[in-house]
Amino acid sequence: MADPAAVPVLTIDGPSGSGKGTISRLVAERLGWRLLDSGALYRAVGYAAGEEGIDLSDAEAVTRCARTVKIRFQPSADGGETRVLVNGHDATDELRTETAGAAASAIAVIPSVREALVDLQHAFRKAPGLVADGRDMGTVIFPDAAHKFFLTASAAERAKRRYKQLKDKGLSVTLATLQREIEARDERDASRPVAPLKPAEGAVVIDTTGMPIDEVVAKVFAVVRP
Ligand code: DC
Repeated sequence: MADPAAVPVLTIDGPSGSGKGTISRLVAERLGWRLLDSGALYRAVGYAAGEEGIDLSDAEAVTRCARTVKIRFQPSADGGETRVLVNGHDATDELRTETAGAAASAIAVIPSVREALVDLQHAFRKAPGLVADGRDMGTVIFPDAAHKFFLTASAAERAKRRYKQLKDKGLSVTLATLQREIEARDERDASRPVAPLKPAEGAVVIDTTGMPIDEVVAKVFAVVRP
């Protein structure tokens, strides 16, 4: 079997609403590489734990859940959004909500939960290459990645983007509440002792405030020669 360490990895980390999800997908498509949406794994664990009635502060029970949950990414038949199956149930819509994001951020502070997801994330590293999207892709999971990026944007802009995304999906939210929630989540993700949200050493930092998507993609490809 080919050595996974020989497979190139490009990491894109950053806070929610920084544009990393969209940019990672576009970059992966253009390179013809696989995509790892690591946030979806944390969301899936938070969701599965909630479904089982587990208290999200019960580290032992949530870790057990992280070790046993079955998460499957299924490309949609019509070329649309990839579906996420959690223990066989299509939870794509539930995983997108702010409640799922907050639950993910809460369980992501538990070191044994992070540990339980390491092998699963490494398994995405397959030829011809991997684009990995998350908070600790360049710092912890793929420290040997050839290219590392860190996307940021002002909290106000990130809240506006999330507001538009959620509205487009028919979810009811207010901008002010969203901005408060985003700031609280960033604070928790950045201040946790294990794998905090921060740029990896040598990462190219791109502030995407006011920047159209194609310009961000162009900045990535100015560094990465396909
Ligand atoms: O990228 P996202 O919004 O789907 O991530 C949801 C939460 O999951 C985020 O607030 C923190 C956690 N997370 C993490 O701790 N490490 C990752 N690599 C990805 C997400």
